[in-house]
Amino acid sequence: MGKLNDKVVVVTGSVSAIPGYDSIGSATVREALAEGAAGVVISDINDELGEAFAKSLNEQYGTGRALYVHTDVRDPKDVEKLFAITEKTYGRVDAVMANAGVATAEDFDKDPEAVLKSVSSFKASMRTEFSTPPSTVRV
Ligand SMILES: NC(=O)c1ccc[n+]([C@@H]2O[C@H](COP(=O)([O-])OP(=O)(O)OC[C@H]3O[C@@H](n4cnc5c(N)ncnc54)[C@H](O)[C@@H]3O)[C@@H](O)[C@H]2O)c1
Repeated sequence: MGKLNDKVVVVTGSVSAIPGYDSIGSATVREALAEGAAGVVISDINDELGEAFAKSLNEQYGTGRALYVHTDVRDPKDVEKLFAITEKTYGRVDAVMANAGVATAEDFDKDPEAVLKSVSSFKASMRTEFSTPPSTVRV
């Protein structure tokens, strides 16, 4: 019995750009499936790697266990679409790992307001999508 049996998990920024190595997001996706998640949604801006990653996971774990959805977390419309597609495909969202980091220390030094605004816009997009917020799950 896995720790995430039957759970639906969304991970942003979850592609690995370095062949043979995982990023934090792609490792989380693999771990969620190994722990029995019913569905894991890979969301990223690298569509080619994202589609290939989902395909390889579905070959390994079974059709339909992984789904890739293009999502630029800076765009609230993309984030809304991510959760709409997840709910349409798997019926619900149990856990979200907001892993994609889009601001550097230099960005923050240059324009802290813009960085904070981008984070709030992601949080606001998530709030509009859930009447009950997804839980935080330790993997
Ligand atoms: N690796 C570290 O040592 C470290 C340390 C502290 C914090 N972090 C944070 O942890 C997170 C993951 O780190 P990592 O090293 O695995 O990163 P990574 O650079 O290997 O992967 C990040 C992923 O996010 C995707 N991405 C970039 N911009 C995006 C956007 N606008 N929307 C959606 N996806 C986007 C990239 O395509 C990539 O697949 C990041 O938020 C990073 O800032 C990492």
